[in-house]
Amino acid sequence: MRIKGIEHIGLAVDSIDTAAPFWRDVLQLTHRGSEEVKLQGVNTDIYDTSSGKVELLEGTNPDSPISKFLEKRGSGIHHICFEVDNVESAMTELKENNIQVIGDNPTIGAEGYKVIFIHPKSTGGVLVELAEKPLK
Ligand code: CO
Repeated sequence: MRIKGIEHIGLAVDSIDTAAPFWRDVLQLTHRGSEEVKLQGVNTDIYDTSSGKVELLEGTNPDSPISKFLEKRGSGIHHICFEVDNVESAMTELKENNIQVIGDNPTIGAEGYKVIFIHPKSTGGVLVELAEKPLK
C-alpha cells in the first residue's frame, strides 16, 4: 500500500461545543465542516491545519464506540488516520499480513472518505484508520 500522509488525527471529546473554540478561535484552523456519521454513532467537527486535519468526535449515543472510549479513557487522541490511494487493496494486504482489521468491508466515513480501522492490538496500541479520498 502507499501511504500519502496523515489525513487527520481523531480526538474524542465530551462536547464539540466546548472543545471547538480552542481549535477554531485560538489556533484559528480553517473549519471544514460538521457532520454526523450515523454508522459510527458520532458527530464530527473537522479543522484543516493545511497539513493534516483535526477531527473532533463526540458520541451520539451511549453505546457508540466513541462514548465507550470516553467512558474508559476520557477525552484525548482516539485514532490517527493515514490517507491511502486504495483502501480495498490496503485491506487485502493487511489481512495477508495477519493484521487485525475491524469489520469486513470499508465503510463511508466523514467527508465521504472510504475508511477501514486497524485494531490497536496490531499496531502497538493505537487505533489506526486508513482512508481513501472520494472522487469529486
Ligand atoms: Co477518523
